[in-house]
Amino acid sequence: MRKVCIVGASGKLGQYMIQHALARGYEVVGVCRESSVEKLAAYQDRISIVPGKTNDRAIIQEAVSGCDGVLTVLVPWGIQQYASGTAQAVMDFAEPNARLIFSCGWHISRDGKDVYSWKLKAMVALFGTVARWLRLVELDDQVEACNRIFASNTCWTVVRGSDLEEGASQGLPVWSEHVGDPILRSNLTRRIDFALFMVAALEDDALIHNAPAIVGCQTQSAIEHQSLS
Ligand SMILES: NC(=O)c1ccc[n+]([C@@H]2O[C@H](COP(=O)([O-])OP(=O)(O)OC[C@H]3O[C@@H](n4cnc5c(N)ncnc54)[C@H](OP(=O)(O)O)[C@@H]3O)[C@@H](O)[C@H]2O)c1
Repeated sequence: MRKVCIVGASGKLGQYMIQHALARGYEVVGVCRESSVEKLAAYQDRISIVPGKTNDRAIIQEAVSGCDGVLTVLVPWGIQQYASGTAQAVMDFAEPNARLIFSCGWHISRDGKDVYSWKLKAMVALFGTVARWLRLVELDDQVEACNRIFASNTCWTVVRGSDLEEGASQGLPVWSEHVGDPILRSNLTRRIDFALFMVAALEDDALIHNAPAIVGCQTQSAIEHQSLS
């Protein structure tokens, strides 16, 4: 892996991914909205920035050119197919055989075998309805984006994040194929470690065509599971 593109670089997850990618010696290209370029001032001498909307196909085509990997923050903002437009453009324009790593939440299910708590189901239903009513967030579009990714023959990985918190790194999160598996019960990951998992996935071929659901490696459920195995 030599050169990677981070789509959604100016957000919290994006900036942590920049730090991890630079620490691994990758050349980094970041895409973010024009109004957010200043958020990347601290990195401007070390990365290239392509300003523009992440669902703008010409912007994505320019940014992913020559990249061996693309890390995408799949945000469902607005009512204009932001997530699915972004995912489709990344898949259409990334180099053949580039590793494509997408982020989303546990609510995305690849095979329908995830088991959700009533609390998570209620949260998604309530948040989805209110947010759509306010025309702020389009959760259905993140589902559409992921369905397109799952159906594609690119080298994709969809990393499904638990609830997130800030704080110092605890190390690489652990993962399981299905929400509801005991190891994931704690439902908490440090955002910096979500980013670490995304960047580490670039070079983990076992994660190709997989949708790992992750949880912090120092959470109670992860520790209990490790002591059993
Ligand atoms: N938050 C959670 O608890 C949680 C849990 C599980 C998974 N995830 C997943 O983690 C990823 C990052 O989430 P995060 O919560 O950590 O947020 P984040 O990294 O702060 O990312 C927010 C992103 O949304 C962009 N954005 C904000 N307003 C926008 C708008 N109106 N139009 C277009 N883009 C806009 C931001 O770009 P600007 O810098 O330009 O504003 C930024 O790239 C997502 O894939 C999410 O599904 C989050």
